[in-house]
Amino acid sequence: MVRPIQIAPSVLPADFSRLGEEVAALEAAGVDLIQWDVMDGQFVPNLTFGPDVIAAARPHTSLPFEAHLMVHTPDVMAERYVEAGCSRLIVHAEACPHLHRTLEHIASLGATAAVALNPATPAATVEHVLDLIDLVLVMTVNPGFGGQAYLETMEPKIREVRSMLTASGRGDAVDLEVDGGIGLQTIAGATAAGANVLVAGSALYRDPEGLGHAVDALRAAAAAARERPDD
Ligand code: DX5
Repeated sequence: MVRPIQIAPSVLPADFSRLGEEVAALEAAGVDLIQWDVMDGQFVPNLTFGPDVIAAARPHTSLPFEAHLMVHTPDVMAERYVEAGCSRLIVHAEACPHLHRTLEHIASLGATAAVALNPATPAATVEHVLDLIDLVLVMTVNPGFGGQAYLETMEPKIREVRSMLTASGRGDAVDLEVDGGIGLQTIAGATAAGANVLVAGSALYRDPEGLGHAVDALRAAAAAARERPDD
């Protein structure tokens, strides 16, 4: 079974003074889930959402929340983000010396676990934890900020992760997400390479025709790219 295309907005470009309304607007626009870019000012040179901010937005939408934990010590606050309403926690392999144990810990909290790979981190990093995760995130920018240029050089890694998932028999259970610089000009390459969950921030909020138009256009472009997968 091919995993369905999902459009996951990053709320990084949203109006932080109205996050409840913003997540409600994203749900109305037809997104599939919401990604919270959690940054601690140490793992990346930016500081964003604590668990209480996410908890405040939680009642305003029925969509699943995933926390992209761009933080040095994800084990320390994993439980707080699950309590805040995140059903998936994405940890960076680069921040987890005991990645296998961290992923087991997340599962023990009742959330699903996922691994993010920075651009220089090899796909093989997740080879021995595919049984513990429901998503691999291949970063297509260096983490920390929205609005960066898509790294097309990550497409071979996307293909490699997709092949790894298929070869391991986990292709039906594990999503392949990409994050960074995803828009109408780049979504086809990422999708054709094997991504099925597309995170977008700037591309959604800069569409003059609004969020709904942007979501529909991205979804259509991803679906069209599926018809022409990489050879
Ligand atoms: C980087 C962030 C961004 C964000 C999406 O740490 O994770 O990639 O979610 O930003 P855009 O879509 O504006 O590149």
